[in-house]
Amino acid sequence: MNPFQLKDGVLHAEEVALDQIAGEFSTPTYVYSRAALESAYTRFAAGFAGTDHLVCFAVKSNPSLAVLNLFARLGAGFDIVSGGELARVLAAGGDPAKVVFSGVGKTEAEMEAALNAGIFCFNVESASELERLNEVAGRLGRVAPVSLRVNPNVDAKTHPYISTGLKNNKFGVAYEDAFSLYQRAASLPNVAVHGVDCHIGSQLTELSPFLDAFDRVLVLVDQLEADGIHIQHIDLGGGIGICYADETPPDFTEYAAAMRQKLGKRAVKLVFEPGRALVGNAGVLLTKVEYLKHTEAKNFAIVDAAMNDLMRPALYDAYHEVLAVRTATEQAAQVYEIVGPVCESGDFLAHDRELALQQGDLLAVMSAGAYGMSMSSNYNTRPRAAEIMVDGDKVHLIRQRETIEQLFALEKIVG
Ligand code: LLP
Repeated sequence: MNPFQLKDGVLHAEEVALDQIAGEFSTPTYVYSRAALESAYTRFAAGFAGTDHLVCFAVKSNPSLAVLNLFARLGAGFDIVSGGELARVLAAGGDPAKVVFSGVGKTEAEMEAALNAGIFCFNVESASELERLNEVAGRLGRVAPVSLRVNPNVDAKTHPYISTGLKNNKFGVAYEDAFSLYQRAASLPNVAVHGVDCHIGSQLTELSPFLDAFDRVLVLVDQLEADGIHIQHIDLGGGIGICYADETPPDFTEYAAAMRQKLGKRAVKLVFEPGRALVGNAGVLLTKVEYLKHTEAKNFAIVDAAMNDLMRPALYDAYHEVLAVRTATEQAAQVYEIVGPVCESGDFLAHDRELALQQGDLLAVMSAGAYGMSMSSNYNTRPRAAEIMVDGDKVHLIRQRETIEQLFALEKIVG
């Protein structure tokens, strides 16, 4: 579903005109559609109806309490990568018994917090992490449920910065080492082997890498079972891509059917960690054109959102569609660089876009619901954007715009 449609020449989020939101809450502002978020989760989970499964939303893609709370109410679990994300999940009403904890650098304090909360599983990423978890759990008198994140060494065919399943990156345990590390895990008193985990990358637009990774995981599961190490769940990570421009990622039904078919009759719970696919197309970044600047080489539209608000273009050269909130009638369309006010040449949101613009116009940077606000920063002492959730014709402010005073409230001048 696309909740962002033109109605009477004005781009809307569900029933609300985006210029109304800009008028009330100013810009830059992230705007999410509740219906789109709920529909994405419901469609994803529906593919696994009848199969024992747990959908753990990857918090890092959009950690807003309001977003987490919506998913929690639909029965979602959560994939976390820090103590901070655990605290958010709990604050949003998430069920700790449905939380998986991924990440290569878990601290002792984070392990303790997760053990005390009673999470579903630790996705352990190294031999040394396994030993530390065993120690920390022993100290607390608990037994930590674990999966090893195995690195199936498949090419996710995505941007190298977001590809994680190849041998040469920092994630997971090498496939060849996994069996012996499982034997070690099975021998430790304070960890209990529950599952096998893998995550091969993000923004995947083909099914085949998922299937290849699943095949390799199943070989390992069979070896473990033969060795008396019982596997209760298989966590296949996240990574399903979305359409930013003209990509054709697998749809949820196709993905689920392929995964279920591969699982066959095995009595194993399937766990997934989708992030982007549930939130990416449910949000836009609303921004205002401050200035138009025409130079010999280029036309620039200088907008009030910048790389600190949406880092993906600067970091990955990522493409986001940019739409005018109101279709202009008088101006002729020109080709623009859409840039922010930050003092870096890399501060762009989009290249070479044909738009009919005048100063003061509003633009919507599309598909900004995933890794948008979550990767934003205060670079150039810019307060982070406000966040809005639209629900039908209702508008909810789910995060206030930061104030400048808040940005240096924790700082101190040396006397
Ligand atoms: N599970 C693990 C262990 C992960 O590392 C990630 C994402 C996910 C699940 C969720 O992946 P998704 O379903 O969202 O693809 N900042 C980048 C994306 C980084 C993804 C990091 N890991 C971007 O803006 O494209």
